[in-house]
Amino acid sequence: MWDDAEVSVEIVVMPDAEAAARAVSKLLVDVADADGSVVLAGGSTPRRAYELAAAAHSDWGGAEVWFGDDRCVPADDPRSNQLLVREALLEWLVVRPTVHSFPTDLPAAEAAAAYDAALRDELLDLVLLGLGPDGHTASLFPGSDTLDVRDRLAVAAEPGLEPFVERVTLTIPALEAGAHVVFLAVGEEKAAAARRAFADEPSHMTPASLIRSRHGTTTVILDEAAAALLV
Ligand code: 6PG
Repeated sequence: MWDDAEVSVEIVVMPDAEAAARAVSKLLVDVADADGSVVLAGGSTPRRAYELAAAAHSDWGGAEVWFGDDRCVPADDPRSNQLLVREALLEWLVVRPTVHSFPTDLPAAEAAAAYDAALRDELLDLVLLGLGPDGHTASLFPGSDTLDVRDRLAVAAEPGLEPFVERVTLTIPALEAGAHVVFLAVGEEKAAAARRAFADEPSHMTPASLIRSRHGTTTVILDEAAAALLV
């Protein structure tokens, strides 16, 4: 958990969702260009950022891609975060990165344990996170026991929102280890959660409020609609 005194959070407000996606795509391309490692977010919001990143930079050969969470569905299921990343990013690249997907064909606890082992000793350059209207991020939901896990980097999780399928998610220690933690949220439906996550006191009822880069920087990229209650 972070201590206010140590952590700097930069809040970047872009005019619209497209500009916010473009800002994130630039950060992704910088990591890929530097042969770095990135944790990608799921959900719908980052799709445009992935498309723009693929269009801007097609050789990700030296990069490593991890997932912040996934839904325990087959990799070609429309609810799969692996499918999102494949369709929006990987399929457009000339040289693909090394991709570390959650083995969602396994039972959730086994998939999480395998991912926990794979992540040990990995240095994460950029961790991209979304924000749910309830303040969740990755598959860390309000009031969940997963928020208190300190000894594992990945765990199974119960869904708090659609899609109501079992999840696998990185834990707070794994996410806050990112050298650069970047949140992306757009739209007025995210404004209340953004206020709770980035302006109010940290709370277990707003998981995104609990995650900041432990040793690096944290950037929050919002469009004006999502930032409406922050100013
Ligand atoms: C997931 C995500 C999740 C997502 C938020 C926001 O797998 O669902 O990792 O944390 O970032 O739910 O989702 P939207 O971008 O679709 O609003």
